[in-house]
Amino acid sequence: MTKRIWQGRVDSTRRSVVMQGFLASAGAVLASAPAARAFDLPRPAKLRDADNGIETSGRGSLRAHAEARGLLIGCAVNMSLLEQQPSYGRVIAEQFNVVVGENCMKWAALRPTSTTFDFKQADALVAFAEEHKLKVRGHNLCWHENLPKWFAATATKENARQLLTDHIHTVAGRYKGRIHSWDVVNEAIWIKDGRSDGMRVSPWLELIGPEYVEIAFRAARDADPTAILTYNDYGLEYDTPDELAKRAAVLSLIERLQAAGAPLQAVGIQSHLRTGDIASLGDGVHDFIKKLHKRRLDSFITEMDVNDDGLSEEDVTQQDRDVATVYKHYLQEVLKEQSVKAVLTWGLADQQSWLQAEKERPKHPERAQRPLLLGVSDGVYSPKPAFYATRSALDEAKRR
Ligand code: G3I
Repeated sequence: MTKRIWQGRVDSTRRSVVMQGFLASAGAVLASAPAARAFDLPRPAKLRDADNGIETSGRGSLRAHAEARGLLIGCAVNMSLLEQQPSYGRVIAEQFNVVVGENCMKWAALRPTSTTFDFKQADALVAFAEEHKLKVRGHNLCWHENLPKWFAATATKENARQLLTDHIHTVAGRYKGRIHSWDVVNEAIWIKDGRSDGMRVSPWLELIGPEYVEIAFRAARDADPTAILTYNDYGLEYDTPDELAKRAAVLSLIERLQAAGAPLQAVGIQSHLRTGDIASLGDGVHDFIKKLHKRRLDSFITEMDVNDDGLSEEDVTQQDRDVATVYKHYLQEVLKEQSVKAVLTWGLADQQSWLQAEKERPKHPERAQRPLLLGVSDGVYSPKPAFYATRSALDEAKRR
């Protein structure tokens, strides 16, 4: 059965293969990219934009364009798709040189019980990456979300420090020497919680105090001397009062960490962006990146995507154009700084994005979002305008 809900198709026969639970509930949207330039991926992958002859594989891949500038380009990987859909892994290996697990290295995935670990999916990600010579970002070692169900009843002020350091020693220790960079602490700043230091009132803060951040960084360094240790956060990209305050609070946290000798080397700027508001996107984050560099910190764009729910036009071409404009504008701005070493999108293709969850589409519940670089239909991937916008921003990146 196929029915149109927007300029795309809902194909109910395919939902179990391609979609995760949230997408199934969103209607399992499988859309062709508007210009229908398919990445058919025979082995070895050889991608050509059939319609206009633009090479998108080999020398035309994002990977080749990024490597020409010494940059990392990658995406978050959904392990179910990697297991179930051969073309998913082939496109990732063809287009990228770094990957990050969307969920497989989080506490809820790794910690079925308080005394055991399940590394099946995380091991599979690292094996896939090593097989295809991709670097791996580890995401993440300490976060207030995605904690396992047992956590609330088990963690106490007495054992939380040990719980955190044991987890980090075990996880970062297992992949010692094989991880490019770890998001050691994720999203520790949340101004609205009202603390003077801007820190989020998270389980970790309540159980251990603000020093949980230093503890986590030291444990990560003990466990893996070579991974680049990263603080990762969102809401740092726009020139709004809230995001200005958040950038300032992150900088204060970093000053405090550095003063305490904590081994921090990079900041992950998640970059969950939106269409519109382009005039307030760029200057502040550029300045922030420069300030980080003065503190000897590199920057990574760790989770880029563009939410288009706010667009009023009911037109896929317009959605794609506006999304691509945000990619181009933002990447041109941040890639001016040589301290920006990596760009990763949060997912491979639109239809697989977390932004398809109904709660992320409040204004247009009947319309799928088009936030990423590729579209997919029947396991065949197609480059979207955002793909070309990203590739051209990589080409323009100022690099020695
Ligand atoms: O664990 C259950 C699983 O057993 C069950 O089969 C499945 C069925 O729906 O639900 C499961 O967990 C879900 C998990 O994704 C894996 O699919 C969680 O409910 C769901 O909340 C979780 O969402 C993830 C979210 O982080 C929370 O961890 C999203 O996929 C992921 O895209 C999102 O990623 C975050 C970054 O880590 C940090 N920055 C923001 C970004 C977007 O929210």
